[in-house]
Amino acid sequence: MLIRIRKGWEIPEREATPEHVYLNRRQLLRAAGLLAASGSLFADPHAAKRNPEFTLDRPITPEWAATGYNNFYEFHPTDKQAVKDLVGKFKISPWKIEVKGLVNKPQTLDLDDLLKTMPMEERLYRFRCVEAWSMAVPWTGFPMSELIKKVQPKEEAKYLRFVTALRPEEMPGVKMAPWYKWPYYEGLTIAEAMNPLAMFVTGMYGKQVPKQNGAPFRVIVPWKYGYKSPKSIVTIEFASKQPKTFWNDSQPREYGFYSNVNPSQPHPRWSQAHEKVIPTMQLRPTLMYNGYEKWVTDLYNGDEY
Ligand code: MTE
Repeated sequence: MLIRIRKGWEIPEREATPEHVYLNRRQLLRAAGLLAASGSLFADPHAAKRNPEFTLDRPITPEWAATGYNNFYEFHPTDKQAVKDLVGKFKISPWKIEVKGLVNKPQTLDLDDLLKTMPMEERLYRFRCVEAWSMAVPWTGFPMSELIKKVQPKEEAKYLRFVTALRPEEMPGVKMAPWYKWPYYEGLTIAEAMNPLAMFVTGMYGKQVPKQNGAPFRVIVPWKYGYKSPKSIVTIEFASKQPKTFWNDSQPREYGFYSNVNPSQPHPRWSQAHEKVIPTMQLRPTLMYNGYEKWVTDLYNGDEY
C-alpha cells in the first residue's frame, strides 16, 4: 500500500483559498489602487491591472504554497520551508539598483521612484524549477524592455548581467554555505531581455513580493528554469561577453547559460519530462519552453544548453 506522507507545507485542498475569495480580494485591491490614483496616500503599485494576454492552463497556486516553499540560498541553502522564517532581518527599503556597463545612461535608480514611471501590470505565468516542481503565479511588475530603453544600451552590449544583494548579517544562509561564490549572479542575452515575456517583478498576489520570493526587485523569465530569475537585484550590468552565472560556475555540467525549459533535455539528476505541480505534487507533462513557444522560439535553435 502506498502511504503518502503530507509535507509540512501541504494542506488539504479544502483548506486552500478558493479562487473566488482570492479574486474578490483582488477587486478590493484594485479599488484601493483607484483610490490611490485619486490622491490617497495609499498608492500601491502592486495593485495593478491584469494583462489578459497571459492565461493559464491550470489553477493559480495558492498563495501560502508559493510564498512558503522557496529557493533562496542566502537565507537557507537546503530547507525551502524555512526561508520564509529567516528573512526578518533583511532590509528592503530604501532600495537602489545600479545600472552600469555598456549603456549611454548609466545610473543608480531608486526603486520607489522607478516604479512611479514604469507601466505596472499583473501577469499570470507558469513558473518551473529545474528540480521539477512548478507553480502558477500572479506576478506584478513591468517589461524588462522598458528599463532597457530608459538606459539606452550601446551597440556593443549583447548581454545583461544581474548581481543580487549580499548582506551576511541579514542573510543567515550565506554563512551556512560559505563554499558558494556569493553574491548570486545571473545573465540573459539582450534579445532575451527584450522579449515581451521578460519582466522585472516587484509584486505577487496583488501585493509587494515577499522577502522570501525576492523582494523588492527580481527577474521573471517564465520560459526558463527558476534559477534564471535572480532575486533581490542590486546591479544590472550591460556587457559584450556572455556573463558567468552562479550555478554554471558551481556545477557546469548541470547548469548551462540558457537553461530553457525543455522536456527532452534531462538534467543529470532530474528527468525533465514531467513536472510536479505544487502543492498537490500531481504530475503533468513538461511543455517546451514551459508553454511559451509562441513568444520565444525565434530566439533559439532548440539545442541551447
Ligand atoms: N536568487 C537569489 N538571489 N538566490 C537564490 O538562491 N534561487 C533561484 C531563483 N533566484 C535564488 C534566486 C532558484 S533556484 C529558484 S527555483 C527561484 O529563485 C525560486 O523562486 P521562488 O522562491 O520565488 O519560487
